[in-house]
Amino acid sequence: MEKQRAERRRRMVLVPSPFQGHMTPMLQLGTILYSNGFSITVVHTHFNPPNPSNHPEFNFQSIPDGLTADDVSTGINILITNLLNVNCQAPFFECMVRMMEQQQQHPAGDDQIAGIIYDEIFYFPEAAANQLNLQSIILRTTSAATQISRLALLHLEEEGSSPLQDPNKLQDPVPGLHPLRFKDLPTYRHEIMEHYLQLITSMYKIRTSSAVIWNTMHYLEESSLAQLQQQCQVPVFPIGPFHKFAPFSTSCSFLNEDTSCISWLNNQAPESVIYVSLGSVASMDKKEPEEMAWGLVNSKQPFLWVIRPSSNNAPEGIDLLPEVLAEAVQENGCIVKWAPQKEVLSHVAVGGFWSHCGWNSTLECLCEGVPMICRPCFGDQRVNARYVSHVWRTGLELENELEREVVEKAVRRLMVGEEGEEMRQRAKNLKEEIELCITEGGSSYKSLNEFLEFIN
Ligand code: UDX
Repeated sequence: MEKQRAERRRRMVLVPSPFQGHMTPMLQLGTILYSNGFSITVVHTHFNPPNPSNHPEFNFQSIPDGLTADDVSTGINILITNLLNVNCQAPFFECMVRMMEQQQQHPAGDDQIAGIIYDEIFYFPEAAANQLNLQSIILRTTSAATQISRLALLHLEEEGSSPLQDPNKLQDPVPGLHPLRFKDLPTYRHEIMEHYLQLITSMYKIRTSSAVIWNTMHYLEESSLAQLQQQCQVPVFPIGPFHKFAPFSTSCSFLNEDTSCISWLNNQAPESVIYVSLGSVASMDKKEPEEMAWGLVNSKQPFLWVIRPSSNNAPEGIDLLPEVLAEAVQENGCIVKWAPQKEVLSHVAVGGFWSHCGWNSTLECLCEGVPMICRPCFGDQRVNARYVSHVWRTGLELENELEREVVEKAVRRLMVGEEGEEMRQRAKNLKEEIELCITEGGSSYKSLNEFLEFIN
C-alpha cells in the first residue's frame, strides 16, 4: 500500500445515487478501480451516506443536498432523485473546485483527478465536469434491456398512443422488443409515473460524457448491447458483474447484515432452501405477508426470508403474522431483517431465490446458478423478470394475486418439480458462462482492460 502511494495514483471521483441498488454497484466499481491503481473519492449526499469505515481506502466528501424532512418522508425515491439532480448541482461544482484547488496547492502530494463517474440517474455532475474541463463517464446500474424498454416507453409517450392505459393490450407483445409485453415495460404507479418520465427523459438526453460503463455482460445481453452501442456516440464498456471483480468481503449495505442466517443455512440439506428477499425498496401489499407465510409453510421447504424493518412504528418481521402461523414459520424457516445476500446465494443449501428482480439481485443470482421465482413490483424489475423467465429461462414469474396455494405451488414447482430441475440446470450452465466472462480472455475481463486503457 505504501509502495502504491509512493507511485502516485490518478484520482477518480465517483458520484453514487443514495439508494442501495445504486450505491452498491458504484462502490464495487470503486473497489475495482482502486485495485487497478486509482485512488477514489466518493462524493455523496448528506441523505443516506455510505459508511466510510467499510471502505477505509476511499476518500469521502459529503455535499449538502437541500432535501427537507417532507421531501424524504414522501419515500418516493424517484421524486427525491429528481430533487437531488437540481439541488446538488451547485454544491457539487463547489466541492470539485475545492478539490482542484487543493490539488494545485500540493502538486506533488495530491493525486491528479482523472475524471468523474456518475450514476445514470444522478446526472448533475456532468455540468461541473464540462465547466472544469474534466472527463465524465456514465455508470449504468440496470440492464441494457431496461434502457431499450425505457426508450420504447418514451417513444410511446411521445406518440401519445399508450397501450399501457388499455388493460386489453397489456398482454400484447411490444413490437421489436421480444419477449416483452406492454405490461413488462418499466412502469410505476400512476402518481410516480410523471416523475419517472421526467427522470428518464433527462437521463437519455444527448449527454457529453465520454464513455459508458455497464454492470452487465456480453454473454447475457449481446443483442441489446450491440443495438445500444450503435445508437451511442461514445464507447460502451460492459464490465459486469462488478461484485465478482470486487472483493467478496466488502459490505456496501446501509442495514446491518444478520450473519446468523448462515449458521442456520449450515444445518440445511443441499439445495433445499428457498431464499426470499425483495431488495431494499419493494414491499408487499397488506395481506400478502400472511399468504406468503402460509404458502411457504405449506410447501414444506425450508426458507430464509428477509423482512426489512418498517420505516414507521408498525409491527415488523415475524410480528406481522398471527401467532399460530408465526410458530409454524419458526419451525421451518429463518427470518432476518437483512441478510448477507451474496453469501446466502452462494451457500450450498440454497436451491431457489424468490426475488423482486432488482438488477443487482438478478445478477447476483445468475452468478451463483440459482433458479428464481420472479415477483417484480415496479420499474426495471418487470423487464428483468421477463428476461429470467423467457430469455435465460432460469426462473418462473408469478403474475397473479399472491394467495397461499399459489405460493405453495410455485415453491414446489421450482424446488422439487421436473420443470424446476431444468431451470436449475440452465442456471448452472449460465453460471459457468458468466465465470468465463470474468476470467482472462473473457468479454468483461477484456472490456475492463479496454476501459482502463481508455482512461489512461
Ligand atoms: C433498486 C431497484 O428497486 C431495482 O429494481 C434496480 O434494479 C436497482 O435499484 P433494489 O430494489 O434495492 O434496487 O434491488 P437490487 O438491485 O436487487 O439491490 C439490492 C441489493 O441489496 C443487492 O445487492 C442485494 O445483495 C442487497 N441485499 C438485499 C442484501 O445485501 N441483503 C438483503 O437482505 C437484501
